[in-house]
Amino acid sequence: MDKINRDKLYLDAKAWVLEAGEQIRNKINEPRVIETKSNPDDLVTEMDKQTEKFLVEKIKATYSDHYIIGEEGYGDELTSLQGTVWIIDPIDGTMNFVHQQKNFAISVAVFHDGIGEIGLIYDVMADELYHAKRSEGAFKNEELLPEPRQDLKLEESIVDMNHYFLCPNRIVDEKIMHQMIRTVRGSRTYGSAALELAYVAEGIIDAYLSMRLAPWDIAAGVVIVNEVGGNVTTLDGEELNMLGNNSILACNPKIQEQLLAFIKNGRK
Ligand code: IPD
Ligand code: CA
Ligand code: CA
Repeated sequence: MDKINRDKLYLDAKAWVLEAGEQIRNKINEPRVIETKSNPDDLVTEMDKQTEKFLVEKIKATYSDHYIIGEEGYGDELTSLQGTVWIIDPIDGTMNFVHQQKNFAISVAVFHDGIGEIGLIYDVMADELYHAKRSEGAFKNEELLPEPRQDLKLEESIVDMNHYFLCPNRIVDEKIMHQMIRTVRGSRTYGSAALELAYVAEGIIDAYLSMRLAPWDIAAGVVIVNEVGGNVTTLDGEELNMLGNNSILACNPKIQEQLLAFIKNGRK
C-alpha cells in the first residue's frame, strides 16, 4: 500500500472513529436495548449495532472495493485477507459499556494483503485515541508511545489476564498460572481486549493473555503493539491468524520467553 493512499485511509478512519465515539458519548445515558449472544454474559446493545453500521456505511460509500470483517455482521464473509480489509469491533468491552458506561473502545484496523497497516483504538469516554501506521510510530492522542522497557524483569511486571486462567480450564493447568501470578508484581483485568492491548503498547502493563479472541478484538491492538516493538503471538508462541479465533500473549519482549515457558509447562 503506498503512503499517499494509506495516509488518506488513516485520516478517514480516524475521522469516522472519532465521530462514532461522539455519537456514543451523546447517547451514553439513554436507556439501552440489551440482548445476549452466545451465552447470558455475552452482551450486545443497539449501540454496538448502530456503531458498526455507521462505520460500514462510511467505508462502503468511500472505498467500495475494500472488504470488512465486523463483529455485528454488517461486513463481509471473508476467507482471505487479500486486498484491503477493515477489521472492526464497534464496541469492545460491551459489558463495561452496559454496566459502567466507560472502559470500552472502538477498535478499527486496516490490513492490506494480510499486513496490518493501520490500528485505531478509541477509549470513547476518556477521549483517548491509540493509533499507529506501520513503521510510522504509535501514539496516544499526540504523544508518541515509547519502546518497551529494556530493563524489565518478570518479578517487576504487571500481567493482565482474566480469572479463567486461575480456575480449572481446558487450556492450561491453573496451578501453573497461580505460580506465574505469584512470581509477577501484580495482575489486572480491564474487560476490553482492545484497551488491554493498547495498555501493553503504552507500557502501563507488561503482558496481556487471553484464551480465545476474535479478529476484531485484536486486529488494531496487534498493529499498535507491534509498532512500538512489543510482541504478539498465540499462547503457544505461534503467529496469529487474522481470519479465525486465536489465543493471545502480547507482551514486552523481555518477559516473553519466561511467560511462554510457564504456559508450556501447564499447557493441556
Ligand atoms: C470482549 C472483550 C473482553 C474479552 C472477550 C471479548 P466484546 O469483547 O474484549 O475483554 O475478554 O473475550 O469478547 O464482546 O465486549 O466486544
Ligand atoms: Ca470485542
Ligand atoms: Ca464488540
